[in-house]
Amino acid sequence: MKSSVIALSAAALTFSINTFAAPDWSTVSKRDIQVFHPGVASHEWTMKKSSHSGRVGLTKGDSCIACHEGKTGLLDLDMKKLASMELEPVGAPKTMIFPVSIQATFDDTNLYMRLTFRAPADAAANAPREEASPKHDVKVAIMFASPQIEHADQQGCWLACHNDVRSMPGADPKKKKFVEHGDLAGGVFYDYIQWKSGEAGNGATQVDGHVAAERVNKGGKALVKAEGEVKDGIYTVTFTRKLSGGEGDLKFMPGQTIPFGVAIHTDKTVWRFHHVSMGYTLGLRAPGDIKAVKQ
Ligand code: HEC
Repeated sequence: MKSSVIALSAAALTFSINTFAAPDWSTVSKRDIQVFHPGVASHEWTMKKSSHSGRVGLTKGDSCIACHEGKTGLLDLDMKKLASMELEPVGAPKTMIFPVSIQATFDDTNLYMRLTFRAPADAAANAPREEASPKHDVKVAIMFASPQIEHADQQGCWLACHNDVRSMPGADPKKKKFVEHGDLAGGVFYDYIQWKSGEAGNGATQVDGHVAAERVNKGGKALVKAEGEVKDGIYTVTFTRKLSGGEGDLKFMPGQTIPFGVAIHTDKTVWRFHHVSMGYTLGLRAPGDIKAVKQ
């Protein structure tokens, strides 16, 4: 009797180790992207002819990175203009743009994504910061777009960034980000996962939410764990996310190409005071800017 219990639990242990085996990151290729401080350059801003000449290309179906990414990184982004009073009335961070390495892989159960970057700690002095404790130095979010969000493969997270969202000039301080025609039940939403560093290295937390008619910071069941470590100023943040999920979670399957964007808050900043990526795509054994190979 006793020995069969032991044998059973040993089998269960082996099973769980196999299911959640950490990927061997040394074999997963890296794709370098850049994140930048977008100021108040919202979705509306990118779609207004007088502010952004790229609007014409966007209406024809070009993606942000089709115009803006070259061999050396992001192009045609005038950081002085983005840091100016017109596009950053509160005050720009010193580091307007920085590189992030992305890796992705998956197995039968999970998608694993790993982001590596050096986090600048030089946000403008008057940028709003976390008020309550714990104050998270760094927060890293990934937003995956559902296939029903029109143009998400072109525009990434920009479709959730609006002029009337809190911390934009003159906006309602309570209005959270949203996607037009957002409808959780109808499948029109961004699935959103986030890692938040702890205070003095302790108590890191994670969020599994979504953005539909508004941003909701809970409800998701897909995020198994978000882990981060800092070594010599370099952050390595790893997300383990089930391929399946619950409310506000997209179901991922090999063969899919999934639009996503990344947002990184550094220096305890909140709201729009982040550095963001343009829209990229994740290919699960499928075409994509970042290709996830099965392990
Ligand atoms: C058809 C090409 C094209 C596309 C597509 C495009 N842009 Fe641009 N973008 C430009 C050009 C050219 C500039 C330089 C300033 C200008 O002419 O408007 C620019 C400038 C910018 C700037 C910096 C402000 C400045 O004037 O330097 C931001 C921010 C920006 N684009 C964001 C985006 C985002 C976000 C998307 C996708 C939603 C996007 N762009 C899509 C061509 C494009």
